[in-house]
Amino acid sequence: MTFDADEAPELRAAHVIVVANEKGGSGKSTLSIHLAVALMKAGYRVATIDLDIRQRTLTRFFENRASWARTAPWKVELPKHFAPDRSESPNRQDSETAEFAVFAEAIGEVEHDYEFVVIDTPASDSYLMRLAHSLADTLISPMNDSFIDMDVLSRVHHDRSQRGMVAQYAEIVLEARRKRRLVDNGLIDWIMVRNRVATLQTNNARQVDQTLRKLAVELRFRVAEGLHDRVIFRELFPLGLTALDALEEFHHTLTASQKSARREIDALVSDLRLPERVAGADHLESRHIWFEQISDYYRDLGARRGE
Ligand SMILES: Nc1ncnc2c1ncn2[C@@H]1O[C@H](COP(=O)(O)OP(=O)(O)O)[C@@H](O)[C@H]1O
Ligand SMILES: [Mg+2]
Repeated sequence: MTFDADEAPELRAAHVIVVANEKGGSGKSTLSIHLAVALMKAGYRVATIDLDIRQRTLTRFFENRASWARTAPWKVELPKHFAPDRSESPNRQDSETAEFAVFAEAIGEVEHDYEFVVIDTPASDSYLMRLAHSLADTLISPMNDSFIDMDVLSRVHHDRSQRGMVAQYAEIVLEARRKRRLVDNGLIDWIMVRNRVATLQTNNARQVDQTLRKLAVELRFRVAEGLHDRVIFRELFPLGLTALDALEEFHHTLTASQKSARREIDALVSDLRLPERVAGADHLESRHIWFEQISDYYRDLGARRGE
C-alpha cells in the first residue's frame, strides 16, 4: 500500500460565512473574531474579510494577534486577512466596479485553498455589504434581547396595522436571497444569534424571544442560543486573544468564565451546522498520519512473511 503524503487535498469552494445586521453594536465583530478563531482551532484554513471600512475592528484584532504571535510561547493561529478600501471615485458606478474588483479578487484568492471565509460587515447599508449578503452560504445576525434590535427586521409598533411590516434589514436579506436563487439556486442559511444575553431571564427577554421565534417562521431564519454578556468576550481584544486561546498558560488553570465562554462558542459553532464534508487541515493531517501507520503496518507484516 502506498500513500503520497504530499497528495493535494480534495478541495471545494470555500464556505462563506457573513456576519451582518444593520444594527451597530450588536456584536458582529465579536462574533466574527470568535468564529474565525474557533474554526482555525478546529484545524480549518480560514480567510477573513473586514468590510467595515470605518471601524476596522476585525483588522485591528488580527493586527494585535499577529503581534502576539511573534513572541507567544504557544501556537497563535492567524487567518489570511483582507481589508479592502472603499473606492474614492465620486461616480457611483465606477466606485462599485472598483470595489467589486477588489472584493472578487480577495474571494478568488482564497476560495480554493481555504475551507471558510468569515466576512465582518458594517452596520450601514453599502454596496459591498449587499454584495457580501448575496454571496453568503451562512448568514449570521447577532442581536441583543431588545425590541430596538428587532425593529430592523420587522416593525415593532403599537398600531397593529403597522406592526410586522418587513423592515429595512430583513429586506436586504430577502433581496440577497432572491438574487442568489437566480444566479446559482443557492440557499442562504440565515441564523439569528442572541448576543449579550443577560444571566437573569427577564420578562422583556421572554417577550423578545417569543417575537423572534414567530418572526423566524415568517422570514425563514433559525435562532441560535448565542452568547451571554461576559467580560471575557471583550477584555482580550488588545492582546488579539480570545477565551479559546491557551490562557491557562498564564493562570495555570481555566477560570469559570473562560470555561463557560468556551462552551458557548462550541455550542454556537455546532448550532451553525457548518458543512462537515470540508476536510479541515487537522483532519487531513490525522488522515495522512493514519494512512502512514497503515502503510507501515503492512510493510512490517510483509517483512515478517519474508516478502
Ligand atoms: N457577548 C458579549 N459579552 C460582552 N461584551 C460584548 C459581547 N458582544 C459584544 N460585546 C461588546 O459590545 C460592543 C459592541 O460589539 P461589536 O462586536 O463591536 O459590535 P458590532 O461589530 O456589531 O458593532 C463592544 O464593546 C464589544 O466588546
Ligand atoms: Mg463591528
